[in-house]
Amino acid sequence: MELRKCKDKNEVAQAFAAYFAALVADATVFHLALSGGSTPKVVFDLLASEYSSKIDWKKIHFYWGDERCVSPIDEQSNYKMTVEHLFSKIPIPRENIHRILGERDPTAEAMRYANLLEINLERVAGIPQFDLVMLGMGDDGHTASIFPHQIALWETKDHCVVATHPDSGQKRVSINGQVINTAKAVAFLVTGANKAEKVDEILNRKKGFEKYPAALVQPHSGALLWFLDQEAAALL
Ligand code: 6PG
Repeated sequence: MELRKCKDKNEVAQAFAAYFAALVADATVFHLALSGGSTPKVVFDLLASEYSSKIDWKKIHFYWGDERCVSPIDEQSNYKMTVEHLFSKIPIPRENIHRILGERDPTAEAMRYANLLEINLERVAGIPQFDLVMLGMGDDGHTASIFPHQIALWETKDHCVVATHPDSGQKRVSINGQVINTAKAVAFLVTGANKAEKVDEILNRKKGFEKYPAALVQPHSGALLWFLDQEAAALL
């Protein structure tokens, strides 16, 4: 595991973008699972503004680690956020964008997406393997859309699961822990003072840390990077 401590969100974005560009440069085709929420916005904006000609974008196939079960034009949609901050600024072949269909029945979509991953990705011990999974972490220690109250979803046999947000009850489709830990590399991007406590508990393996899904991210490849700003790393 590697810790990249950065000054602020912008520096996190710069550090991740440079890391990502180097990974893609070495690949012929690159399967990337995107995270949602707000942290990726600054990353996508930077990629669009400073990396449009530094990355061979047509090599990259875009997937999501999780999606809210809403329409693709809903403000809550991770796909919509990605269009606004990245796809509307960088020409990506439509056939390279594999969104989770949030508007569909969640259970059926989880099955469809799991099958899509099996078809599109190499498999290791039957588990679809991403080249890189981008993750965020909630201040409750969730990652992707595996929340502490449903931590059993981490180990399900299905590659994709239907999860429920603990506060809003919103349904989500998420890849599970086996898919995350089979990835060739995993990058956490965690910023903000509200994450500091969980970052400390997880990275310093404090008592009870295993109850947080983010703590279970331990890719078999060993390629796990945490990109943190000073606020999120304040207790380390
Ligand atoms: C989502 C994300 C989720 C996110 C964390 C952190 O769909 O919301 O995939 O796992 O990464 O909640 O979100 P922020 O980056 O907005 O703090």
